Amino acid sequence: MLDSLHSLNFIADEERVDGSDKVSGKSKYTAEHIIPNIAYGLFVCSTIAKGTIKKLDTSKALAAPGVLDVIYYENCPSVPGYITDATLRPKNVSEWRGFKVLYDNQVRFFGQPIALLLADSLENANAALRLVKAEYEAVPFETDFNKARLDASKLTNTQVYKRGKEKMFKDAPFFIEGEYTIPVEVHNPMEMHATIAIWEGDDKLTVYDKSQGPKSTQSTISRTFGVPEKNVRVIVENVGGAFGNALRSWPHVPAACIAAKKLNRPVKVLLTRPQMFTLVGYRPQSWQKIGVGADASGKLIGISHEAISNTSRYEDFREGIVNVSKFLYACENVDTKYSLLPLDVSTPTWMRGPGEATGSFGLETALDELAHQLKMDPIALRIKNFSEINQENKMPFSANYLKDCYQYGMDKIGWKNRSMIPGKIKENGWLVGYGMAVGVFGANKGSASVRAVFNKQGNLVLESAVSDMGPGTPTAMTKIAASVLQMPAQKIKFKLGDSDLPPGPTQGGSGTTSSLGSAVDLICNNIIKEIKKLAIQFAPSFKAMTEDAIEIKNELVQSKLGNENITLQELFQLAGKENIDLTVTSTGNGAQPLKYATNSFSAHFVKVLVHPQKGTIDIQQIISTGDAGKIISENTARSQMLGGVVGGIGMAMSEQVDWDHTSGQIINASFGGYHVPLHKNIPNTEVWFVNKPDPYINSIGAKGLGEIAFIGLAAAISNALFNATGKRVRDLPITPQKLGFKANS
Ligand code: MOS
Repeated sequence: MLDSLHSLNFIADEERVDGSDKVSGKSKYTAEHIIPNIAYGLFVCSTIAKGTIKKLDTSKALAAPGVLDVIYYENCPSVPGYITDATLRPKNVSEWRGFKVLYDNQVRFFGQPIALLLADSLENANAALRLVKAEYEAVPFETDFNKARLDASKLTNTQVYKRGKEKMFKDAPFFIEGEYTIPVEVHNPMEMHATIAIWEGDDKLTVYDKSQGPKSTQSTISRTFGVPEKNVRVIVENVGGAFGNALRSWPHVPAACIAAKKLNRPVKVLLTRPQMFTLVGYRPQSWQKIGVGADASGKLIGISHEAISNTSRYEDFREGIVNVSKFLYACENVDTKYSLLPLDVSTPTWMRGPGEATGSFGLETALDELAHQLKMDPIALRIKNFSEINQENKMPFSANYLKDCYQYGMDKIGWKNRSMIPGKIKENGWLVGYGMAVGVFGANKGSASVRAVFNKQGNLVLESAVSDMGPGTPTAMTKIAASVLQMPAQKIKFKLGDSDLPPGPTQGGSGTTSSLGSAVDLICNNIIKEIKKLAIQFAPSFKAMTEDAIEIKNELVQSKLGNENITLQELFQLAGKENIDLTVTSTGNGAQPLKYATNSFSAHFVKVLVHPQKGTIDIQQIISTGDAGKIISENTARSQMLGGVVGGIGMAMSEQVDWDHTSGQIINASFGGYHVPLHKNIPNTEVWFVNKPDPYINSIGAKGLGEIAFIGLAAAISNALFNATGKRVRDLPITPQKLGFKANS
């Protein structure tokens, strides 16, 4: 690693360290790696939703130009992780989670891969796909969530929670009860999934993959194929967005490994955009029923939160839909109930603020409705029920600066111009509405390892086996190191994206900066200690000094009194050292019993205009405020909040998977049919952070912000639309039609 140090590009202080490589096209994403003699694999997918494949005719495809093989249930090599019976599986193998691709003739959802076609070029693979003919025996299936959820016997995995009295909200003098529904939404990052597998022997392979966790992908492949972990190298140089869909390995990963072994040559499996809708998870469809009740002063008397979300038939996926109702607001009587509804669809997964985003749409809209009924300002209602402690586990919040967020957001959006009576205010003939809502998510610190090589020229290379899906991990880590070591960021290089590096966390759940940043902070402090020790041991003028009397600044080792100094280069020379090479592991917070509840918070403020005749919706302004502890990297943190705003607008206004329930097929699986916000839909947005360190979570005071950037936005927009129109829409996405405007009027 050291040899390459001189050729590294170091950065200017305020830049995103990988920014120029990304915008200039230098950065390589998984599918872009060029490997000699590689074969290209594309999935043939089922055209029924459920049933059995009676016959798969591959003869025509095999005869097509460049086609190398078609792998399916009849010719798929055995995979140790596909063995269901644990007693028959080798010890180091665990059963593959999810459906076993290419393994059996069962179809579980529309668009399920039933064969992997391999050819010598992507074009040849694509051309031959339709020549594979399947004969099915179809059976009845169910994909209609709204219909199926009405039959209680179909619900599974019900979990209930209760404190105080159940359904107490109904005894309150003021209460509302509403049903809130969110369709299936899909992550759809710009970069599509791809996996390249290269076997270097019978039990050794290198895999390029789109993954939020090189180490977790390494472990999955190792345990599926019975290959020692050290023999599996996973490379994830760059990730072009993920939003949660690369948190686990999906079926194309084992498919690439199976094919590369069978063909005895490298294989690249690529997913198409339509396949991104069914093969890498999605936000589950959900139904919520929420009741909130208060006394005349606005004090909450009861919260009831019921939820159902869909899963697949072959796997359970659940998330924190009802969590926020349990802990955020002061309320003695809370009951929640959350069930899963298995359908004949693929498995959902975490997506952008996962369950809390879903739950907050319900709860934060319900609170707005309650405030309206109470004739109370919705911010005043939230302040009235502000809690210093986590109401569920009764631990004090390590820090909770939500009130600062409220104050800033109110001032900036012009909250004083908001009318308590909806539809009252007009600007240039358009209805004006103001709305706000809160986001909250757990702030965690997990364990992380990092290696640091600090050389005599004062260059620092940090290494950890993480990947970065976009938030700017290398930039944040570089900033931490630069600030601890008091050295220019340009002399620091953060290396990531390779499972051979010391184990880092999976990027998800807003944990990377907190977890890995703590390890970087620790190792940089250890480097300082090492340098001080070297100075005392080898530099004569420092001999009598204590470590406390020495500091390192601007690449000089100096006495705090200022009377002695030595350059790093001289010191390394005296010590006969080329570099300081350390590896540390910082432990996760879960290791000790916790005294504080650690959460990140956000409050989003929205101003909308609605055309009174046409119903055209124009989101005018968004102020997004966050308490994410100390902000490590202002530019990338701001970008993350902006990303949350874009996602929030999508969730509120347009994102929706449409199903044809007669075939079980998604009918809008493309960017033409599935509408994400366009540049012109993004309003003037301001991001503001409290930027006060959390005193307890970790050594750097930083909490996560990936999820709070997004959580609460949909409710803030829907609340603003209510304030503009007086019409409450509890079913996302919100359209002019749902607001009561006629189409094309
Ligand atoms: Mo995120 S949904 O934790 O990748």
